[in-house]
Amino acid sequence: MARQSILVTGSSGLIGSEVCMYFGRELGWTIHGLDNNQRAVFFGPQGDTRWNQQRLQQELPAFVHHELDIRDRIGVASLVGELRPDVIVHAAAQPSHDRAAAIPFDDFDTNAVGTLNLLEAARRSCPESPFVHMSTNKVYGDAPNRIPLRELETRWDYADSAFEHGIPESFTIDQSQHSLFGASKVAADVMVQEYGRYFGMPTCCLRGGCLTGPNHSGVELHGFLSYLIKCNVEGKPYKVFGYKGKQVRDNIHAFDVARFIAAVADAPREGEVYNLGGGKGNSCSILEAFTLAERVTGRPQVFEYVDQNRIGDHICYYSDLRKMRAHYPQWDLTRSLEATVAEIADAWLTARPHA
Ligand SMILES: NC(=O)c1ccc[n+]([C@@H]2O[C@H](COP(=O)([O-])OP(=O)(O)OC[C@H]3O[C@@H](n4cnc5c(N)ncnc54)[C@H](O)[C@@H]3O)[C@@H](O)[C@H]2O)c1
Repeated sequence: MARQSILVTGSSGLIGSEVCMYFGRELGWTIHGLDNNQRAVFFGPQGDTRWNQQRLQQELPAFVHHELDIRDRIGVASLVGELRPDVIVHAAAQPSHDRAAAIPFDDFDTNAVGTLNLLEAARRSCPESPFVHMSTNKVYGDAPNRIPLRELETRWDYADSAFEHGIPESFTIDQSQHSLFGASKVAADVMVQEYGRYFGMPTCCLRGGCLTGPNHSGVELHGFLSYLIKCNVEGKPYKVFGYKGKQVRDNIHAFDVARFIAAVADAPREGEVYNLGGGKGNSCSILEAFTLAERVTGRPQVFEYVDQNRIGDHICYYSDLRKMRAHYPQWDLTRSLEATVAEIADAWLTARPHA
């Protein structure tokens, strides 16, 4: 039987590379990675992902790299038409709130139009293939900030028991402040759902919380935990933006993201949406992340407090994982937050060839 093949966009990034490794190593598939190192254009040399592309090329014998921009509509249509992959995972994006305001056209062309280019290419060439799109919890804008909160010693938490399990997929995405990044991701998210509902394609949006792991090229503007631990390891000040450093994010290791994507690819539905994060159990505030990092590395965390929150930042966000677990009961988190922090610290201390 011919090996199955997957096309992964953003293959040199955190999620894309983990998906490549998972489908290549664990499942034995042929992997087609699409990336043009745009992260280095967005964030400068610190965001460069070539090291990760080279790692995939060295470690995965059945990996083929395609140097292509997802904004290149004709190039994307022709690649998808030639490959007709069994699964498409779309993880290429401009991923930062703050960057989007400086490059609104690049942001929208990449996040919204790039996604449409891929969806339409898939519809024409492989409409039966599961299409998994990496969306974001920023599609909810700052609406989660309207939930009444209680202030604890080191974090904010929901005061409304309706959210004791976290934010569900039914939460409104409308009439709130998203940042331009959040808005371009909403456009993509709704379009991916529409290709499921309107055309009956097996599409799925994963609205990520903080996705993390040792292979993130963390920078100040994107990759919170990776960048925070990098600062800890290098003794560099980490800037905390508002909310007393008690703002809460839920963190999920990219490996558990890849495992969920594999579960969806195996049993896809049409136009589905999941909130994919670490849930309450793997959540932490920035202050708590400092403590974790210090415990793991033995180094003090240096930080500066800026009394101005980031536009659209969530004060408290953790995903309600119950829908994921109900639809895919064989899936669950395998990496604790502490283990993930240890892995990231180890990568910054030892293994990162480009660091
Ligand atoms: N990391 C997180 O915390 C997080 C949270 C929620 C959602 N997400 C979403 O998950 C997806 C993957 O995130 P990530 O953390 O792996 O990001 P990343 O920046 O590490 O990887 C994205 C990759 O896409 C590539 N890319 C960007 N624009 C491109 C273009 N026009 N053409 C081809 N390649 C391009 C980049 O070079 C990079 O290698 C994104 O859609 C992001 O919005 C990430």
